[in-house]
Amino acid sequence: MALPDSNLKSSMPNHLTIGLFGFGVVGEGIYRVLEELPSLNARIKTICIRDPHKPRAAPSALFTTDAAQLLQDPDINLVVELIDDAAAAYRIVTEALRSGRHVVSANKKLIAEHLPELLRLQQQHGGSFLYEAAVCGSIPILRNLEEYYDNDLLHALSGIVNGSTNYILTQQAKGLDYAGALKQAQELGFAESDPSLDVEGWDAANKLALLLAHAWGIVTPPEALLRKGITRLRPHDWAHAREKGWRIALTATATRLADGKVGALVLPRFVDEGHPLYGVRDEYNGLVLESRLADRQFLSGKGAGRYPTASAVVSDISALSYGYRYAYKKLRAGTGGGLSDEFSLDVFVGYGEGTRTGASAFDEVYSTFHSGSGGYITGRITAARLRATAWWQDPDVSVIALPEGFTAPERTRVSRGKVRDLLIAEPVA
Ligand SMILES: NC(=O)c1ccc[n+]([C@@H]2O[C@H](COP(=O)([O-])OP(=O)(O)OC[C@H]3O[C@@H](n4cnc5c(N)ncnc54)[C@H](OP(=O)(O)O)[C@@H]3O)[C@@H](O)[C@H]2O)c1
Repeated sequence: MALPDSNLKSSMPNHLTIGLFGFGVVGEGIYRVLEELPSLNARIKTICIRDPHKPRAAPSALFTTDAAQLLQDPDINLVVELIDDAAAAYRIVTEALRSGRHVVSANKKLIAEHLPELLRLQQQHGGSFLYEAAVCGSIPILRNLEEYYDNDLLHALSGIVNGSTNYILTQQAKGLDYAGALKQAQELGFAESDPSLDVEGWDAANKLALLLAHAWGIVTPPEALLRKGITRLRPHDWAHAREKGWRIALTATATRLADGKVGALVLPRFVDEGHPLYGVRDEYNGLVLESRLADRQFLSGKGAGRYPTASAVVSDISALSYGYRYAYKKLRAGTGGGLSDEFSLDVFVGYGEGTRTGASAFDEVYSTFHSGSGGYITGRITAARLRATAWWQDPDVSVIALPEGFTAPERTRVSRGKVRDLLIAEPVA
């Protein structure tokens, strides 16, 4: 795979003249922040939007609906892409990179789906492409994974990477129904324009794909990842969580297996009080990192919203002003090992009346419950077998990782209240 030049310093001029695409939640935030930060040495010259008739809180002379006016302006050396249309964003980002311009984007769908091509365009044309805001909003994770964690030291990462589903699940835990919670998340500007990206787990899978690229140098299409969102959670699942004193969170998890490969999936998960993610509420995101030397680290912060997201975009703009580019060190080293579904996880499988899940796919069944209106099975199953079951895609079946979900057997049963080693998956012998 072609990779961008690894030099950390490019021949970037210090002054950045920005062509901004999008003046919505994040785009307007960037405009306001740059107005207040003249020290950044970056100026917005033109803003491209879709609707010329909307009132804008910025001088009208800045606006255009003609993308070419930005993309062909020789003064503009940085394109900041913050629109909500992935197909148009693809055209904008690729054209800007092809012209050798630097690009900052927050569009995880676009980046995750086209990463190999975007890497090639950086290498061929010399532009630098940064996208810190695409993963976990305000939490500085991509540059940290790229620069701070050496490849063989990082065992695992797991976290809440989607602010809108976390907001929805937090409201549901308080008793609000799913539709009402989703509406609130949309009104607050946390949810994507197409909510299925959030609630079906696609957004988390896109972010997990980017985390895998920077953590271990694994480039994967997001659709290859084992994924389940929050739309199939059932009232019985919430009752089970309440009875146990657990929360439900949508988590993205990746863990290095004993054979050097990485197991990765997006799945709702019961979180108990002793886990760092238990306190990550509303639109906040949280990531637990496990590495050999540093042991466990926990990062949390706002994962969505105008200024939290703008903070990451501004950080990228600032990094570009001193010539930063991702070196993709792990990808370059080629030691990523690839993905594997050959690992075990502990799950709760809930089902409705008339649905049968069957215990035969499980290596071990921990408990079962059945009443007239449905029931559940908890047990240990491999990711590969889970993916192959007939009920994995059944709309009447929920699959939720247990709090010990990804833990090696000897590390599972530690006392409540103690932070657990949740992230070491048991590779299948
Ligand atoms: N909102 C968040 O908290 C958040 C967090 C992390 C990442 N992101 C990412 O940031 C990006 C922007 O999100 P947002 O929430 O700011 O979106 P938004 O509020 O819906 O705003 C989208 C903007 O894009 C403009 N636009 C759409 N299609 C366009 C086109 N073809 N050409 C030019 N402009 C176009 C719209 O123009 P009009 O104003 O004329 O309609 C609008 O100004 C997305 O990729 C999103 O995934 C958002």
